[in-house]
Amino acid sequence: VHSLPLKGKHVLITAGPTREELDPVRFFSNASTGKMGYSIASQAVAMGARVTLISGPVSLEAPTGAELIQVESAEQMFERVLQRYDEADIVIKTAAVADYRPKFSSSQKMKKSEGTLVIEMERTPDILKELGRRKRNQILVGFAAETNSVEEYAKRKLQEKNLDFIVANNVSEEGAGFGTDTNIVTIYRRDGEHIELPLLQKKEVADRLLAAVAAVSGSETK
Ligand code: PMT
Repeated sequence: VHSLPLKGKHVLITAGPTREELDPVRFFSNASTGKMGYSIASQAVAMGARVTLISGPVSLEAPTGAELIQVESAEQMFERVLQRYDEADIVIKTAAVADYRPKFSSSQKMKKSEGTLVIEMERTPDILKELGRRKRNQILVGFAAETNSVEEYAKRKLQEKNLDFIVANNVSEEGAGFGTDTNIVTIYRRDGEHIELPLLQKKEVADRLLAAVAAVSGSETK
């Protein structure tokens, strides 16, 4: 209906993986390339939003017109997201944040020895859960990367993290999830409604998701 459905809105997006350092040359991470989150950032700019993109290490070009903040670890992403949270109208958490990090990291390269190596891991902060706790009038959108019981786990995250939408992708499906240019998602809404999308380009997924969010956001007086 509107040509710029997100005009006047500040959209905060996270994308990519995080890196949890073990020593200066080694880290724990995951297969996220940032494609999904960067597509959302570009589409949000095209829809008229002011966009802040907080990104883990990826090899994509910065989306034109968005403010890009680069981070490495879950802890850094947590800090930067919280700094921008109060001024955001819509927050979309596409990033694949590490759930664990090495409890101890070494400032020097670790030397190998003959035996096995045991690394103790501790939990990282759950960024989205904290955002859910502090939510005032932001629209909060999470992603759920699952390989099984997708609907059940996604709906549980929607509840537990106090979200308005959750975008579930079954990352074991061909053409969905990490690394691909396409995705297959179902968008669950807080009120129980859902939108099931077929295999689409991530750009198109971004478009449909933002349209669903804009429809809710537009009706709010802020
Ligand atoms: O980057 P691509 O290669 O394009 O791949 C896209 C994607 C598969 C990474 C994306 O579509 C996706 O599913 N992103 C969410 C990945 C994820 O970490 O899901 P999760 O189910 O573990 O986490 C649930 C939600 O909590 C996510 O919104 C996540 O950002 C958030 N979270 C998780 C852990 C944590 N410590 N803090 C968080 O905020």
